[in-house]
Amino acid sequence: MNEKIIIVDFGSQYTQLIGRVVRELNVYCEVVPYFNFHKIEEGVKGIILGGSPASVNDENYIRINLQSMLYKIPILGICYGAQLIAKELGGIVNKSNKREYGRAFLNIEEKEIDLFKGVDQSSQVWMSHSDSIIQIPSHFKNIARTENIPIAAFYSKEKIGFPVYGVQFHPEVYHSTAGKKIIENFLVLICGCQQQWTAQSFIEQTIQDIKVQVGTENHVIMALSGGVDSTVAATLIGKAIGNRLHGIFVDNGLLRKNEFTEVLDMYKSIGINVIGIDAKHLFYANLKDISDPETKRKIIGRLFIEIFQSEAKKIENAKFLGQGTIYPDIIESNVVKGIGHTIKSHHNVGGLPKEMNLHLIEPLKYLFKDEVRRVGNTLEIPKDFIQRHPFPGPGLGIRIIGAINENLVSLAQKADAIFIQSLKKHNLYNQIWQAGVILLPIKSVGVMGDERTYELTVALRAVTSVDGMTADWADLPNHFLREVSNEIINQINGINRVVYDISSKPPATIEWE
Ligand code: XMP
Repeated sequence: MNEKIIIVDFGSQYTQLIGRVVRELNVYCEVVPYFNFHKIEEGVKGIILGGSPASVNDENYIRINLQSMLYKIPILGICYGAQLIAKELGGIVNKSNKREYGRAFLNIEEKEIDLFKGVDQSSQVWMSHSDSIIQIPSHFKNIARTENIPIAAFYSKEKIGFPVYGVQFHPEVYHSTAGKKIIENFLVLICGCQQQWTAQSFIEQTIQDIKVQVGTENHVIMALSGGVDSTVAATLIGKAIGNRLHGIFVDNGLLRKNEFTEVLDMYKSIGINVIGIDAKHLFYANLKDISDPETKRKIIGRLFIEIFQSEAKKIENAKFLGQGTIYPDIIESNVVKGIGHTIKSHHNVGGLPKEMNLHLIEPLKYLFKDEVRRVGNTLEIPKDFIQRHPFPGPGLGIRIIGAINENLVSLAQKADAIFIQSLKKHNLYNQIWQAGVILLPIKSVGVMGDERTYELTVALRAVTSVDGMTADWADLPNHFLREVSNEIINQINGINRVVYDISSKPPATIEWE
């Protein structure tokens, strides 16, 4: 990566948003927890110090070695970041008598300053602070105020070296109307970024990096799921090392209808070296009569690892493990959570035992989901795969409530296929985060023709979400639900009732088990 911006994370809920805005401006960036930031690496064009729920007035306030970077690189402090700059360089930050949250309007005192080029004089900004800077360091200049605070932004007047800016407001949030422009000014006018972070440049650089990392002899193994992340990651690795990538795709008997063959064919069509393992009957045998959800999950996970390990052993020189980890996975586990409290470690090997002793290759670990999709499109992976809904690893195993058998899987697959095909036919599929059916172990009485039926029930589940952490049930049109219900009941012998799940997450979850 030629140029990048480092965002130092002090634990603010908004830090990820800074990353998003920088990426949207086609500049590559990485979020680094403050305790992991040690020195300015090659290619870093600027540093953004983010916000924090902490206070610089705390006895052991959290900090970085600011002196080591001062004037050597452009710096922008946001909220806590600005207060830290002020405090460390001799200014004064006080607990305000007025906490300031929400909307405020800038009064820009230095219109010609690079940071504010093209920004309206009374632009709306979003505030969220209880401490305030009441005195800036002696060689700094105040450049904006609001009705409530006299120091809303400042910069260093030093003529030597690179400038330092601080803003009390949050330019990264949507409600700061010129926030993106301010960040763009910092990136382009102040840091000199070229804004060349495109999917194509990412692809070229990543392929190059993988070649160097793996070398010319070693092989990479990778579990594939047919999902977007592992498919895009495998395509990049495949382009770098060809058949030395060995994808392993396991049919656990709990996939969607025809998924095993369709996914294998797709991998082959885009040139990924993959073997498909048909382990259906092994899974069914081990799951027989098991109805507890957690026990089912554990059995499915354990069998998967056993199969993957035994296949991996057959591949000589397999020294690396490819993974489709994406940035939110890393941020979630690596971020500064509750300052001084829990800091989770990065869950890297996705459940695979450490004794496999493989080095990780995670080409997407700094990308957000929509960026992964952009890369996938540029790699010309078929659209159907790029836009796929997430599907859980234990698959239909956690969508068939209670004990599983081949017959129930077949019913769930048929109902699921009708539901998903109908969503696609009615152009609803892409408006929904995730959809599927849940097969319930409940029989009810029905009547078909003149005959009594006593058959099973399926629940349709379709949710909207941005990240799967929270979700709402999708407001699907009645005529659509009616059509799906009719098709399922008419076409599938064994199901005589369809219900629609209208539970949000929380308090429910997306999957039923
Ligand atoms: P819940 O049910 O917790 O699911 O609301 C949130 C998201 O995670 C997916 N999910 C899984 N994905 N392995 C996975 O790869 C799993 O064991 C698993 N369990 C849930 C779920 O489909 C939803 O997108």
